[in-house]
Amino acid sequence: MKVDLLLGLQWGDEGKGKIVDFLAPKYDMVARFQGGPNAGHTLEFDGIKHVLHQIPSGIFRHDIKNVIGNGVVLDPVIFRKEIEALSKFELDAKKNLFISKKTQLILPTHRLLDQAYEKSKGDNKIGSTLKGIGPTYQDKIARLGLRVGDILSDHFKEKYDRLAKKHMTILKTHEMELDLTEYENEFFKAIQFLKQFPLIESEYFINEAIQSNAPILAEGAQGSLLDVDFGSYPFVTSSNTTSSGACSGLGIAPNKIGEVFGIFKAYCTRVGSGPFPTELFDEDGERMQKEGREFGATTGRPRRCGWLDLPALKYAIMINGVTQLFMMKADVLSIFEDIKVCTGYRKTDGSEIDIFPYEVVDENLEPVYEVLKGWNTSLDGINEYDDLPVELRNYIDFLEVNLNVPVNIVSIGPDRTETIWRNKVLA
Ligand code: GDP
Ligand code: IMO
Ligand code: MG
Repeated sequence: MKVDLLLGLQWGDEGKGKIVDFLAPKYDMVARFQGGPNAGHTLEFDGIKHVLHQIPSGIFRHDIKNVIGNGVVLDPVIFRKEIEALSKFELDAKKNLFISKKTQLILPTHRLLDQAYEKSKGDNKIGSTLKGIGPTYQDKIARLGLRVGDILSDHFKEKYDRLAKKHMTILKTHEMELDLTEYENEFFKAIQFLKQFPLIESEYFINEAIQSNAPILAEGAQGSLLDVDFGSYPFVTSSNTTSSGACSGLGIAPNKIGEVFGIFKAYCTRVGSGPFPTELFDEDGERMQKEGREFGATTGRPRRCGWLDLPALKYAIMINGVTQLFMMKADVLSIFEDIKVCTGYRKTDGSEIDIFPYEVVDENLEPVYEVLKGWNTSLDGINEYDDLPVELRNYIDFLEVNLNVPVNIVSIGPDRTETIWRNKVLA
């Protein structure tokens, strides 16, 4: 059976955690393929809210195998804290959470390097989560990194010391404070903790599951507009957040990919720096932020808010090969009488375009809007698509016509139960 992918189509925080948890019972396995503790995936059910950073969002569904793939960068200290936070929920994570031996390790010095590099960027800072993501991927590509499999080696400490020493040399030039004793103690304790989990050849594990017809869902982190190649570079993360990242981050061949679920908010948000053509700086933006509780799940920073951006969404659909769309947070737009949708941009020379261009980073693109009538009424308690207000269904029809991909799920609240199938495509 082919592997289905679930990816964010915007700047992250689209609601991936909620939907992976919702869909997980249809699958035997959920596998994360990139990113690391920069991610914050929120799940809500039974009145409890959980935020996962590195652990796949299938963990709360019993009998589902969860895999941390080779494309992920793993901070063992944060991993240990995440597992400990789950301990009161009677989950058997040591049996159903599998970690690739090829997953890269985030060292304490990677986090310090992240801080040093951000500081040196001054006004051009990326607004990184400072979890060490960039420096760890940098070491991976430079062929210097340490991987989870290395912790089983008798020479792990030597390998660690060699890399940490290299980092210290760089950190000294950034005048960083360098007392690592506490960090390192925590790190080595967390490494021992990590050894209790199944550390596996995940590409074999996953491909054997594919061969035996097990349904698998690959869970993305961040969003397409933060992709290192296609996002608003340099204001991006350091991995491929798009479909190709699932192939390289799990060892799945492209012809083994099935459905590509693209998930987007009914509007847009962004945390950190970088271009955001439809960003609102007015009262509407403030109301959106308040109604959507738009604060980062990892850093608590306020998320910038704005109207839905169709050229950006079309771009993400194209790059990922999206086959089905899931629209999140429709309930947040219930506060507005009118809803704007950006259908193109006006460049500084007055010309209009409808693509997400290279110039998005340097040029001030003015959004061209179409205005649709809002539904302006609560969606609480609605369970069926046909019971949604006609204006909301018109909004979805408008998007489908423009995007040419069906919207099959509409989410109207953070809880697992506040999820409406439009076309029930999974049995
Ligand atoms: P992720 O990173 O893509 O998993 O998304 P986050 O968890 O960072 O952010 C999504 C936020 O929106 C979380 O607080 C979710 O609980 C919340 N959320 C998800 N779906 C909905 C929805 O349909 N309506 C509302 N109001 N909140 C939602
Ligand atoms: P999830 O998976 C939203 C943003 C950061 C910063 C940029 C680079 O929850 O959707 P990094 O720490 O990767 O070097 O930061 O990317 N960013 C996210 N924004 N959601 C995320 O993950 C993000 N992960 C990173 O704010 O602008
Ligand atoms: Mg998030």
